[in-house]
Amino acid sequence: MRVRKIMLATCVAGAVLGSGAARVWTQSTQSSAATSVSRTADQVYKNIQVLKGIPADQLMPSMQFMTASLGVQCDYCHSENAFEKDDKETKQRARKMMRMMFAINKDNFDGHREVTCYSCHRGANKPVITPIISGEAGRVAVEERTSHQEPNTLGLPGVDQIVGKYLQAIGGTEAASKMSTRIQKGTLTVGSEHFPVEVLAKAPTKRVTTVRFPGGDSVTAINGEAGWLSTPGRPVHGMSPSEADAARLDAELFFPSTLPQFFKELHVEQKEQINGDETYVVSGIRDNWPPVQLYFDEKSGLLVRVLRYVESPLGRNPTQIDYADYHDEGGVKTPFRWTVARPNARFTIQIEQMQQGVPIEDEKFAKPGP
Ligand code: HEC
Ligand code: HEC
Repeated sequence: MRVRKIMLATCVAGAVLGSGAARVWTQSTQSSAATSVSRTADQVYKNIQVLKGIPADQLMPSMQFMTASLGVQCDYCHSENAFEKDDKETKQRARKMMRMMFAINKDNFDGHREVTCYSCHRGANKPVITPIISGEAGRVAVEERTSHQEPNTLGLPGVDQIVGKYLQAIGGTEAASKMSTRIQKGTLTVGSEHFPVEVLAKAPTKRVTTVRFPGGDSVTAINGEAGWLSTPGRPVHGMSPSEADAARLDAELFFPSTLPQFFKELHVEQKEQINGDETYVVSGIRDNWPPVQLYFDEKSGLLVRVLRYVESPLGRNPTQIDYADYHDEGGVKTPFRWTVARPNARFTIQIEQMQQGVPIEDEKFAKPGP
């Protein structure tokens, strides 16, 4: 039971962070991003043969990418507490596959990462090699836009109109910009289990989410630039720059009065339905970070979905956040429910109580000592 709770805590905390691997951070002696940022994976880990030279904090996102691409868990390639061992055939196969993937891209796509594990595996450990008749069970219905496809934006409103309508819908930039703190309490649901959750947020980019598991608190935090995560009985883990960027964006989007400034460019992409409702998909471009997709409801104008990515050397790890149950509190609308989904994890936070505009000391967002 205890083990199960820890696994669950890890799963949730990991999913909040955008990572499925909190448990491994204890095995590694590196507990802070600051120490690993400047070091390469082969300097920090014991048995790295292919991913040599990548920053150490990129190893976990790579592991998550393989895990999601093959639809497996870490133990598919690793024995418990012995990640450096090469005792599983699948791990050795994965090394060959990485080499193959790099070679395919180098030889055929000028080194651009066009082919990844997911291109072939599509969430299965053995790729399907014979075409499947449409409608047959097991069909992977993943619609993907490639970079070569031109978006059809004909007849769609412009970005300023969509974002303007959104800012109006939440109460207007003036009212929204006055909201600078929030304390929210509610329930986090994973599968059929429920846990108390508390969110402290301070504009523009400070946010701490604490989930109260029976075995202790699991914390995911972003304090402006730096992000970290702690699970019961484990050392605090620092986020990689790309993970921190994603967490910072999540935090910013809860104080969206300056939303256009979060991005270097915003483009209207297309219309798409979510649960039968039409939305406008807007992509947000920033320097150095993967693009972000924002989905605005056509009718209400509200932001109903964000699709964002954490970069890794093998590919991007996606996280989808669906916002719902907007409440008008003090003239500003904010979502009271959000569902965070990753290829192998999903949970929902439902807020039940909220206070706004109360002072929150900066120490509440400070990274705890080791
Ligand atoms: C498809 C197989 C596969 C999966 C799934 C996988 N790994 Fe790995 N892992 C590898 C391979 C291969 C290496 C060695 C990489 C190299 O040699 O460059 C590795 C290396 C590691 C290392 C470095 C160990 C050391 O000290 O050398 C850690 C830690 C690790 N993986 C953790 C994880 C975690 C946590 C997960 C689940 C999120 C995971 N892995 C999922 C294949 C996998
Ligand atoms: C170009 C297509 C392609 C790409 C890209 C690819 N694979 Fe594979 N992979 C295959 C095929 C095909 C098989 C099955 C071979 C077989 O049945 O023996 C396979 C088998 C495997 C297996 C063994 C499965 C088993 O149960 O025996 C592992 C592990 C694996 N791939 C991991 C990866 C990882 C990790 C990546 C990304 C780094 C990757 N593959 C990228 C095509 C690909």
